[in-house]
Amino acid sequence: MLVNDKHLTTIWYEKKTDKVKIIDQRLIPFELKIIELNTVDEVCFAIKEMQVRGAPLIGVTAAYGMYIASKENANLDFLQEVSKRINATRPTAVNLSWALNEVMTKITDLKEDQTSAKILEIANQIRQDDIDNCKKIGEYGCELIKKIYALKNKPVNILTHCNAGWLATVDWGTALAPVFVANKNNIPVHVWVDETRPRNQGFSLTAWELINENIPNSLIVDNVGGHLMQHNKIDICITGTDRTASNGDVCNKIGTYLKALAAYDNNIPFYVSAPISSIDFNIENGVMDIPIEERDSEEVSHISGLDENNKLKKIKIVPEGSSCTNFAFDVTPAKYITKLITEKGIVDANYQSISSLK
Ligand code: MRU
Repeated sequence: MLVNDKHLTTIWYEKKTDKVKIIDQRLIPFELKIIELNTVDEVCFAIKEMQVRGAPLIGVTAAYGMYIASKENANLDFLQEVSKRINATRPTAVNLSWALNEVMTKITDLKEDQTSAKILEIANQIRQDDIDNCKKIGEYGCELIKKIYALKNKPVNILTHCNAGWLATVDWGTALAPVFVANKNNIPVHVWVDETRPRNQGFSLTAWELINENIPNSLIVDNVGGHLMQHNKIDICITGTDRTASNGDVCNKIGTYLKALAAYDNNIPFYVSAPISSIDFNIENGVMDIPIEERDSEEVSHISGLDENNKLKKIKIVPEGSSCTNFAFDVTPAKYITKLITEKGIVDANYQSISSLK
């Protein structure tokens, strides 16, 4: 999507230098910095420390990470070890293990001198598929927005949580893809952007994406959604997911569950957008079995922003001696999900419909 009127994606392979490049998302919205990934250590750091984040994007990064490893050593045992290391960086988003598995299963019978080129081909394909799938999600989801607009003939108010825009994928995004497609089709939309503490992906990333695409939006702190719903100020909620179980339970950024409960109580449709690579067909009960990442408590106790000299600064916001816990995700039971928007169409969040996507 656009940044300062120029098209940009979150990750790409540059053929002439043989380098993988990413945007360091920790600096957005204050600085747009492109960096190279040159070693497996750098790939693991980028995923763990969230230079790249969002379920589909960490999957694509992992695939390129395997390419970077294979340039050093294309031995299968070595690559298996690297794959385990990359997989351990973040536990919740299933796209990470999905992408690593895509790579590993396709190289088992290859000679060592063929392996690296093949991994690059697979990584490039995973990247391109992600772009294509997210665009299709956008087209399917846009139909929902179009229907609401046809009924009310006023801008459609959409609530989203965290960042499930193009920065969470390669391009287009998942939850925001329908918004981008609607905007390109001149359907008037307005997005309520949840702050999404502790890391504020809503304020820093989603708002930045929408502003760059010239899409009307309002930033709200995390507890506002319920109030807006009671006063008919939200027509539809759309979020992404890091791992959806085969029973339709949806794991997404912490706080998604509470928004879904409020939407249910107010009869507001709650949609979840996701490529099929975000579905874990092996987990039958999302609430019980999806692993929830716990992150550094400093993400809760501190907050970053620009100081009076426009320098990025981290400040402490809790009393000395506080004990903070930091669960990064929660699970919304399937009964609160209106439907899932996938690249194969819009389906019910239940076992039967999800199995048909395999
Ligand atoms: O911790 P993050 O920033 O990686 O979390 C991202 C989300 O929760 C997104 O909503 C999710 O990955 C779906 S995005 C396409």
